[in-house]
Amino acid sequence: MKRINIGLLGLGNIGTGTYRTLEMNAAHIRRAAGLDFAVTRILERDVDRERGITVSKAIFTQNPDDIWNDPATDIVIELLGGVEPATSFMVGAMNRGKHVVTANKAALAANYEILTDAAARNNVMFRFEASVGGGIPILNALTTALLANEYEEIMGILNGTTNYILTKMAGENLTYETALKEAQAKGFAEADPTADVEGEDVANKLSILMSLVFGKRVLPGDIPTSGITKITKDDIEAAKADGCVIKLLASAFKRGDGIDCFIQPTLLNKDHPLASVDNEFNAIFVKGNAVHDLMFYGKGAGPLPTGSAVVGDAIEIGRAIAKGAAFDLRG
Ligand code: HSE
Repeated sequence: MKRINIGLLGLGNIGTGTYRTLEMNAAHIRRAAGLDFAVTRILERDVDRERGITVSKAIFTQNPDDIWNDPATDIVIELLGGVEPATSFMVGAMNRGKHVVTANKAALAANYEILTDAAARNNVMFRFEASVGGGIPILNALTTALLANEYEEIMGILNGTTNYILTKMAGENLTYETALKEAQAKGFAEADPTADVEGEDVANKLSILMSLVFGKRVLPGDIPTSGITKITKDDIEAAKADGCVIKLLASAFKRGDGIDCFIQPTLLNKDHPLASVDNEFNAIFVKGNAVHDLMFYGKGAGPLPTGSAVVGDAIEIGRAIAKGAAFDLRG
């Protein structure tokens, strides 16, 4: 059985969900993938918080050098969030020959080339499935099974927090504030929920998707974006009266040689396939020139769905390490 040592950067909501996924499914992962994962180091200040996981205080550190200078570390999993120091830590880990997995859409959207170049230069694997759509394996699908396609369009609901808020305001008459608090308590929201409710989180995800789908870099700040903070109870009632719902939609499509993209609250007829995507669920619609229309649906936020995507990436890398792969077949 191949043992894979993980250095974890951050033990917040997603770090804890990742640790729990590894803990509760250890026997299954051994059986299914032939891998024995061990979290050997954790970069985290808050040692004492009760997280509902079994973790030894001895493996906590506040010095990232302890993680990437340790020859035993195979994979560094970055779950700190934010652009910096996360980007520098990921590049630092790759420069020391460590494979990297991240869920960090802000760092990826801002520094996509820096991170992918560092991975290529150091001949290490770099995976970021959890950065878009939480537990939905959309990036895996786009970069493997759907690689034969050219794309015309991508559209979807890409933020669990705002979708949860809009669902609860419409269905349970909750105020915006109560619904936001519930989303935060469930671990959906970003540390600063402004990024969710103003659409910045969706802009980061759409930027990453456009890099993969269209091979074109559009910085999140260059995507015309409106969030949900201006949506009132009256807007929601008026939509209902017309047989519609309001959803925060992200869209990008080819127009001539260019790409149009935007993020905005949108009225959808109740019969529209995206109208019934509720709570923290996300849905991503893509149109490829061979496969035609595809829709992906699943939990777009939350510690365990996101942990599932993070651990899936770690398993793919672990399997490659176990087989002695000298280069990234996907890169
Ligand atoms: N805050 C994000 C959301 C987390 O609510 O969708 C998942 O990316």
